Amino acid sequence: MVKVITYGTFDLFHQGHYNILKRAKELGDYLIVGVTGEIYDLERGKLNVQDSLLTRIENVRKTGLADKIIVEEYMGQKISDVVKYDIDKLVIGSDWYGKFDYLNRYCEVVYLERTKNISSTQLREKQKIYNIGIISDTMEDGEIVVESKYVSGIHVESVFMEDESMAEEYADHYELAFSTNKMEEFLKNLDIVYVRTALSDRYAYCHNALSAGKHVICENPCSLDSEQLETLLKMAEEKQVLFIDNVILAYLRALAQLTWMLNRELIGQLIKIRCCIRVENSNEFGMIDQLTDSILVFLRILGSDYNNVTMNPIYDEEDKLIYNQIVFHYENRIGCIEIGSTPGMKNHLSILGTKGRVDLPDEWWNMGYFEASEGSDSKLKRYSFNFEGNGMRYLLHEMLLMIKEGSEVSKKLQPEESLRIVSIQQKLLKELQHFRRIPPL
Ligand code: CTP
Repeated sequence: MVKVITYGTFDLFHQGHYNILKRAKELGDYLIVGVTGEIYDLERGKLNVQDSLLTRIENVRKTGLADKIIVEEYMGQKISDVVKYDIDKLVIGSDWYGKFDYLNRYCEVVYLERTKNISSTQLREKQKIYNIGIISDTMEDGEIVVESKYVSGIHVESVFMEDESMAEEYADHYELAFSTNKMEEFLKNLDIVYVRTALSDRYAYCHNALSAGKHVICENPCSLDSEQLETLLKMAEEKQVLFIDNVILAYLRALAQLTWMLNRELIGQLIKIRCCIRVENSNEFGMIDQLTDSILVFLRILGSDYNNVTMNPIYDEEDKLIYNQIVFHYENRIGCIEIGSTPGMKNHLSILGTKGRVDLPDEWWNMGYFEASEGSDSKLKRYSFNFEGNGMRYLLHEMLLMIKEGSEVSKKLQPEESLRIVSIQQKLLKELQHFRRIPPL
C-alpha cells in the first residue's frame, strides 16, 4: 500500500485545496492530511486564519478524500509523521518548491503545480472586513491601529473624541479614514467599538455602543461597579453581540499552559503566589484597576474558594498611597499582591510549591518566559512563549473567530470571571477609601 501525506492550513477551503487533495490521493492508496493547529499558526505569526481548526478539519473531511486527518502542531513534526505513519510520498504545492527536499531522506517528496488564480489570501481579501472605531480622549494610545494590521479581516476605520480638533489630529496621526465628535455619525458604519477613555466615561460609552448593536472591546476595567458591568453583559447578550474586557493575559496560551502544569503538580502542592507590580505614580483608583491580571491569576490557578481578602496600604508623609499588600487567604494557600510606586518595587511573579518554585520576571503579565525549579537539586526548566507587540492581536484574532463562529468558540474570559474580578476590585476600593489612616507623627 502506498501511503501519501500532505499538509496545509486549508483556510476558507477552495478549489485549489480540493485539487491538491485529489491529486495527492491519486498518487497512492492511503491519504493522510495534516491540518495546521491554531497554536502552531499563532506561533509562526499566521494570525490571518479565518476558520477555526474544527471548521478546517471538517472541510477536509467533507471532500471524502482523506483516509486520516491529523493536526500539525509544531515545527519539525513532518519528519516524525513520515516515520510514524510509514509514509511513501509527501505531496505539497509548487509554492513550496525545494523547501521540503530535506525529507527526501525519509520518503519521496512530490511538488504539484498549484491551481492558478485562487488562494486563501485572495479569498480573505474578498471577505467581509469588520470595521473598528476607537472612542478615546487622549492622543497617546493608538496601539490597536498597529495591532489590527496583524489580523486580517479587521480594519480600524475611525475615531470619536469629544474634542473635534483632537479627533482630527488623532485620525491624521494614525492614518484613519474618519474622525468625529458626533456619536450617531461615528457608530453608523462600524461593527466593533473600542472604548479606551478614562475609567469614569467607559461605562456610558460602552452602553451607547451596545445599544446600537455594536460589538465592544473595553479597556479594563470597564467599570469598578459590578452592577454596571452586569448591565453591560446583559445588554450584549440581548443584542447578541460580544462585550470583550481587554484583559490580554486571558487570551495568552502561556497562562493556560502554566495553569495546566501547576495543576499537574509541576512544583508539588501550591503554597503561595506572589504578584509584584510597580506603578509609576498612583492613587487609590489607579492601584485598584491595576489588579486585574493578578486576580485573574489567583482565580485561575488557586481557585475562587478563598476565605477572605485583606489589605495593608502604606502612605507617605504627604498621605499619598505608595504601597499596598493585598492578600487572598485560602484554606491552605496564599495569593499575595504587592503593588507600589517606590523605586525598589520590581515587576515579578513567583509561585511557591512544596517541591519547587516558578518565576516570571519583569512584565510577567505578558507571560513570554518563565522558569521552574523543582526537586532538592533545584533543576531549572525554562519555558518561553511568543508574545508580539502589546498582545492585543491575540485578543482581536480570538474576537473575530467568536464573531464569525458564534458560541462554538470558547470565550477566553468568561463573563462570570470578569464580574468576579470587578466585584473584588470594587470591595477593595471601598475599603481603601474608608481606610483609617494613622496621621504621621
Ligand atoms: N494549494 C494549491 N493551489 C492553490 C492554493 C493552495 O495547490 N491555489 C496547495 C498549497 O500548495 C498547499 C495546500 O494547497 O500544498 C494547502 O495550502 P494552504 O497554504 O492552506 O492554502 P493557500 O491558499 O496557499 O493559503 P495562503 O493564501 O494563506 O497561503
